[in-house]
Amino acid sequence: MMIGSKKRAGNAGFTNQVEYLLTDTVPFAIQEAYKMIRTNIIFSIPDQKCKKILVTSALQGEAKSTTAVNVSIAFAQNQSRILLVDCDLRLPTDAKKLNAQQSPGLTNLLVGMCTLDEAIQQLPSGLDVLAAGDIPPNPSELLGSPRMEQLMKELESRYEYIILDTPPICAVADATILSKMASGVILVVRQGIATRENVNNALEKLKVANAKVLGIVMTGAANEKTKSYSKGKGYGYGYGYADNYAKAQMQIGDQKNESH
Ligand SMILES: Nc1ncnc2c1ncn2[C@@H]1O[C@H](COP(=O)(O)OP(=O)(O)OP(=O)(O)O)[C@@H](O)[C@H]1O
Ligand SMILES: [Mg+2]
Repeated sequence: MMIGSKKRAGNAGFTNQVEYLLTDTVPFAIQEAYKMIRTNIIFSIPDQKCKKILVTSALQGEAKSTTAVNVSIAFAQNQSRILLVDCDLRLPTDAKKLNAQQSPGLTNLLVGMCTLDEAIQQLPSGLDVLAAGDIPPNPSELLGSPRMEQLMKELESRYEYIILDTPPICAVADATILSKMASGVILVVRQGIATRENVNNALEKLKVANAKVLGIVMTGAANEKTKSYSKGKGYGYGYGYADNYAKAQMQIGDQKNESH
């Protein structure tokens, strides 16, 4: 199995969707990387009953959805009450990645076409997922609506953790709008795709929105760094930018070096 090769985004060395879902059979280093993200989230937001974590990146194809899905699975493995919400109402992929249904989902719920119980899918992994639903003409408007805020409140009473998967923050306003409802934000940065400027732009947008950036998850990291990581030395590696934010930096990279 290969995760995070330096091929172009949108393919990146994965041969099929199932291969990189977090399961007990994926290499140890990959499992550990996602567990470490889980631990860092737990410690970064200690005092809230329901922790709402938004996952975004500067650009398209940086592995936001993969990160959101796998971190959610890592929480489910921990027996946490966890809900993954696909808030990418433009190019949603979470349902497909998880072999779940695309609708009814968030959009259907927001316009009153179904109930919460009809929209939430309980997966065998223990993870609950609210898929994006039918693609709407006005994603930003829906996500910024009072109904969305009300829905988040309802969900807070049911779950310990809510992970919000979003579109790229430099492309559309959706992630910025949602960051106001989140306890914290994880910024995914893919090596070889996002430039320093892109990352700084993304961080600036989050700063203006008053969002709490919990950390940066690096994806597509180069071999050598990942080797270090899998030996337990890679934690804390960064590019030098966003030092103030990078409390939970980690790489999920080219983990060709199989489990050990
Ligand atoms: N850790 C990783 N390292 C490198 N590539 C990855 C990693 N995780 C997933 N990928 C690959 O990156 C591609 C994009 O993944 P994903 O759909 O998660 O990105 P995204 O940021 O959600 O994209 P979009 O902006 O379109 O929503 C996928 O084809 C996937 O195979
Ligand atoms: Mg995505």
